[in-house]
Amino acid sequence: MKFFVDTADVSEIRELNDTGLLDGVTTNPSLIMKSGRDIVEVTKEICDIVDGPVSAEVTATEYKEMLTQAAFLAKIADNICIKLPLTMDGLKACKALTSDGHKTNVTLCFSANQALLAAKAGATFISPFLGRLDDMGIDGMELISEIRTIYDNYDFDTEILAASIRTVNHVKDAALIGSDVATVPPAILKALVKHPLTDKGLDAFLADWAKTGQNIG
Ligand code: E4P
Repeated sequence: MKFFVDTADVSEIRELNDTGLLDGVTTNPSLIMKSGRDIVEVTKEICDIVDGPVSAEVTATEYKEMLTQAAFLAKIADNICIKLPLTMDGLKACKALTSDGHKTNVTLCFSANQALLAAKAGATFISPFLGRLDDMGIDGMELISEIRTIYDNYDFDTEILAASIRTVNHVKDAALIGSDVATVPPAILKALVKHPLTDKGLDAFLADWAKTGQNIG
């Protein structure tokens, strides 16, 4: 499974990219607002750090204006992936942009039928929002599972990008179902490595090693 980080915080992105574990980045208008930076400036900086796709979202709601904004965003860097909302105009723009060779990420997906339409529109990625469904008492993971089945039934190339991830278990469950990608907030990505038995075991090994008085190398 590929890991994208869901943030526009450049220092977090740099730190995670240095681990070699990062495959891409997703941003959205709220994350750009949170960064307090200019969209072009911050997106360009992110694209310079990360080799993989960097999703930048259009804010237009009508087809033609979406395409104008997409052309503007695509000029920022070669690894820009145009993020479009799951509306009829967004799907139409997705079809036009993918036919033109752009990478696309159809966002705000909350149903399997929406995901089916995004695949038919040629989306590179579909972003089902797990956490926001869970918040409403609806099982977000069930949606990922339905989309996996539908995409496999018809051999769609669209990759499932599990989004709105709130817990480490969301990452594990999405991986078990076969989500192609998870876009994860930095704190959760860092939490994936943690296990108290790892820390305890390492402390014990280091304490015993110190007693040997040896050095390696
Ligand atoms: C995905 O691309 C979105 O940016 C993101 O995952 C939304 O997450 P949220 O529901 O925590 O805002």
